[in-house]
Amino acid sequence: MNEQLVQVARALGADGRGILAADESTGTMTKRLAGIDVESTETNRRDYREMLFRTTDALRDHISGVILYDETIRQSAADGTPLVQMITDAGTIPGIKIDRGAKPLAGAPGEKVTEGLDGLRERLAEYYELGARFTKWRAVIDIGRGGDRSIPSAYCIRANAHALARMAALSQEQNLVPIVEPEVLMDGDHDIDRCFEATEWTLKQVYMALYDQRVWLEGSVLKPNMVLSGKGCPVQAAVDEVAEKTVRCLRRGVPAAVPSIVFLSGGQSDVEATAHLNAMNAGYDLPWNLSFSYGRALQAAPLAAWAGKSDNVASAQAAFRHRARMNGLATRGDWSMDLEQEAA
Ligand code: 13P
Repeated sequence: MNEQLVQVARALGADGRGILAADESTGTMTKRLAGIDVESTETNRRDYREMLFRTTDALRDHISGVILYDETIRQSAADGTPLVQMITDAGTIPGIKIDRGAKPLAGAPGEKVTEGLDGLRERLAEYYELGARFTKWRAVIDIGRGGDRSIPSAYCIRANAHALARMAALSQEQNLVPIVEPEVLMDGDHDIDRCFEATEWTLKQVYMALYDQRVWLEGSVLKPNMVLSGKGCPVQAAVDEVAEKTVRCLRRGVPAAVPSIVFLSGGQSDVEATAHLNAMNAGYDLPWNLSFSYGRALQAAPLAAWAGKSDNVASAQAAFRHRARMNGLATRGDWSMDLEQEAA
């Protein structure tokens, strides 16, 4: 039992606040910056993230935690303040991405397993010293195209669940709250019920692996996908159906001992990700805090507004503040399309 872990796990999903996932690997960040014609130098990556973390009112009011990448947790702002300190000064908890990416799973064409366990204990001890109080590990589960039911395979789900549990146990040993992220992808032509089936199966296997490996659920956080229609599915489920099926799936798969569930956005539009979260919090009485840990759905608007120009910093920060506030409202079920448009 470790009270610090419980407090952090609860705080990450505290009412009105959620997580900013700013842990893009250098490869992903390079793609994002290329999209706005900005060269991916260490300074540009720092300037962009510093701009987000300097939106201190948004952090204080709506952002419970920030997930950092290895490069970022070691960086300082232009004025020399460590980025980690800027985050903690705003009353927000720094965390760290600890996986080393999803790689092809041997013997399972088309499926992946996440790597990064070797030497993890030592890396975790260092990240704690650098100020991290939670970790994140993302597993990727694909759904077969054209009705191919061989993907996901039981092998892929079990291999990923095992790795998630390994990292979670090690994180807790080092006094870090693990964010367990099994992402069932929305890419593909599958319908929402196939997503439900794959997500329920994945969650059950993940919680079995966490149990086997003695992970203490009260000091952990789940970061799941929502139950959605595949991007290429001709029938797209409406907000109420997404909320109803996601809640049903989570109730079946996630023990009530888990304090906080924080969704990934996974390629949904900004407003869709907010509307879905809002519908769940407005319509259902749930045993967990239900909040967000968005990357793209929080950053797409400020990234576009910034475009790499210092003249645009204020409008980029306004765009970030707006999305953080809208998602903060959604954690209470208080968001509406009217509020969205009024403030825009
Ligand atoms: P998205 O919200 O863009 O899916 O990213 C969240 C995340 O941290 C994925 O690991």
